[in-house]
Amino acid sequence: MRGKFITFEGIDGAGKSTHVEWVADRLRARLAGTASVVTTREPGGTPLGEDLRQLLLHRKMHLETEALLMFAARREHIAEVIEPALTRGDWVVSDRFTDATFAYQGGGRGLPRARLEVLEAWVQDGLQPDLTLLFDVPLETASARLAGAREPDKFEAESRTFFERTRQEYLRRAAESAQRFRVIDATRSIPEIQVELEKILATL
Ligand code: TMP
Repeated sequence: MRGKFITFEGIDGAGKSTHVEWVADRLRARLAGTASVVTTREPGGTPLGEDLRQLLLHRKMHLETEALLMFAARREHIAEVIEPALTRGDWVVSDRFTDATFAYQGGGRGLPRARLEVLEAWVQDGLQPDLTLLFDVPLETASARLAGAREPDKFEAESRTFFERTRQEYLRRAAESAQRFRVIDATRSIPEIQVELEKILATL
């Protein structure tokens, strides 16, 4: 049986990455040896993808170049990691996927959605996550969580209005694909969020 594909999304500072390994461990316990759980991330997830991540997070580039490189890294990720795992029957938990491109390059930077849809159709060939967990927080909470952390990368250094547009595009997509998305109020404490995540996993 084909495995399931779960993605984590949210603006920088929403706290999603804290929950990735926890969710993977809970899935391992539930699957109890019948399937493995692969954790991965975007941009990245393969040696080439991690090299592209360095460029994407630190080099200034044309907006369309940025979108194309995100999808180039994704093509490699799907071919080398995601598809083989799902075909083996393993589950894949990815810290970000294509919703991030619609939110950041589309919402945040203003690239027309239709352009991204062309790349999505080409690169994914019908592949979509089975479940997307959107960690949602107001801008104030996100920037307070980021303050004092390491040196901000290219995206983390973006303006408040950029992140407001990014957040709104995530929420718009969640409303549009309500079957696939679960929106998590990520202003709550980690244990409170874990209770909700456990309930969501039980439905899979
Ligand atoms: P991370 O901080 O969750 O590891 O993600 C790296 C950054 O890359 C984050 O600021 C969001 C950004 N990003 C995009 O702009 N578009 C994309 O398609 C992806 C996957 C990430």
